Amino acid sequence: MLGRIARIGASFIRSPGKRAWAEDKLAWKLFQLRQRRQDRINAAFDARHGTDTAAEVALTEAGVGADDAARGNIVYRPLWESNFHAGLRAIEAKVGGFEDFTFVDIGSGKGKLLLLASLYPFRRIVGIEYAEGLHAVAERNVAHFAAPNQRCKTLVPMLGDALAFQLPPGPVVALIFNAFDRETTARAIAHLARQRPDGAAPVFVVYENVRRAAEIGAALNAPAPWHTIAQTRRRIVIGNAAAARRWQSGGRRASETIDAATTAPATSP
Ligand SMILES: C[S@@+](CC[C@H](N)C(=O)[O-])C[C@H]1O[C@@H](n2cnc3c(N)ncnc32)[C@H](O)[C@@H]1O
Repeated sequence: MLGRIARIGASFIRSPGKRAWAEDKLAWKLFQLRQRRQDRINAAFDARHGTDTAAEVALTEAGVGADDAARGNIVYRPLWESNFHAGLRAIEAKVGGFEDFTFVDIGSGKGKLLLLASLYPFRRIVGIEYAEGLHAVAERNVAHFAAPNQRCKTLVPMLGDALAFQLPPGPVVALIFNAFDRETTARAIAHLARQRPDGAAPVFVVYENVRRAAEIGAALNAPAPWHTIAQTRRRIVIGNAAAARRWQSGGRRASETIDAATTAPATSP
């Protein structure tokens, strides 16, 4: 028996195909365990705030036709809180604070990320969501939400298609959490890039994937003249040249002299 197990083990080690299959299986199991833990964290958030954000919803049950639902990745589920905060903190540290930024959640579902973003000092927070049923829940969540550490009170959930969304003026951090299939992701990115090829105001687009950002393939390749600004296993940040400059300068805008002594780093939740 032990010999048989050893032979099977050895054949897996020798065969790259079998090894990749086993690694995939293991990664999927680990992901499911992590997702279960995140489900409990999401439910605890709702219990604490009296909101409705945790439960998954099939897009076809929220007013989206079957074809559009397929382009929109079929189901609503919220981004993991820890991943959201890690992404925002990474950008916040690089841009020197969010006070002049609008946060946009592209495919905002029930508005969970609008609520989490309101714990940062954004100028304004906007969500764009095409499922009427989810948008209605987001409106209720935004109206109901209150937290002692809330830093932004201007939260605007909008009903509409991300492919027609007009970026707000000024600096923007836009986030996409697994909202579209690859082709639609590429179209959504191109639509944003066309609106702000460059200009003075930075536009960052943060793509989040709770498994591996590489799943999106080439769809997140920054369309010229945009740049890939940062990449980790679960996150890709792209943006216009103004965003790349702001990232590289660590928050000091070219036209400004910032007195380090008077520029307190933004404190995050
Ligand atoms: C995975 S959910 C993420 C929800 C939200 N960002 C969060 O993390 O809580 C993706 C959302 O994108 C929405 N979506 C998909 N395609 C869209 C489109 N073309 N326009 C607007 N919203 C879209 C879906 O309805 C869904 O609510």
